[in-house]
Amino acid sequence: MIPTPTTSHLSAADFESVYEPAEDTFILLDALEQDAELLKGSRLVLEIGSGSGCVSAFLGAICGPSSALYLCTDLNPHAARCTALTGQSNSVPLDPVLTDLTSALHPRLEHAVDLLVFNPPYVETDDAEAFDAQEDGVIERAWAGGIGGMRVTNRLLEQVETLLSPRGIFYLVAVPENKPLQIIEDMKARGLHGEITLKRRAGREHLHILRFSRPAESHTAVDDPTP
Ligand SMILES: C[S@@+](CC[C@H](N)C(=O)[O-])C[C@H]1O[C@@H](n2cnc3c(N)ncnc32)[C@H](O)[C@@H]1O
Repeated sequence: MIPTPTTSHLSAADFESVYEPAEDTFILLDALEQDAELLKGSRLVLEIGSGSGCVSAFLGAICGPSSALYLCTDLNPHAARCTALTGQSNSVPLDPVLTDLTSALHPRLEHAVDLLVFNPPYVETDDAEAFDAQEDGVIERAWAGGIGGMRVTNRLLEQVETLLSPRGIFYLVAVPENKPLQIIEDMKARGLHGEITLKRRAGREHLHILRFSRPAESHTAVDDPTP
């Protein structure tokens, strides 16, 4: 069992402005641990919305702290600071980048990301609330997802296929309001195969972990240049 990274260096005051690891974080860790063998060998790891940095530090334990480049983005400057500290406390070199989704990194990461992870603001709110949270919220940015809880996620879904390397895998946290099966269907039209790898009820939330990759035949075609 891979231990949950320590966040004991972060204070209650930090968690007033940065998302504290919760059930959605922990189901994501469990799904990643379940796939650990598949994920080893990833060389470029990108977490969107890294918050405390707990998930990226866990990915460092799976893939090896010095075996991959760990990029982490967040819109929240407090999150970027906490992510860096969590990297140091867990001996994983995390590189936080303060940006909207992948804005500061795209297109340098085109077809380069081996492992992409997003635990997004997935809670259904009205669009104005999600918009305000994205513009100048702090902790609200962690959860306010707008109509269907999909306003932020949808913007990332448009980029996933161009971000993933030929072997790339993408993990997404979702709840039923986000329509996980519809997400899988929509991503199929974008050339990615998706499935639900883990489900768990946590209080009122019914959490799902979705995993996407290129279909096996296209993976072989891209990896193997021989006819
Ligand atoms: C549900 S929290 C997840 C935090 C952490 N990854 C975890 O699992 O505990 C969502 C995170 O996404 C960040 N976020 C929201 N909108 C974003 C955006 N447009 N670009 C980058 N990060 C964003 C929030 O600031 C927050 O840290």
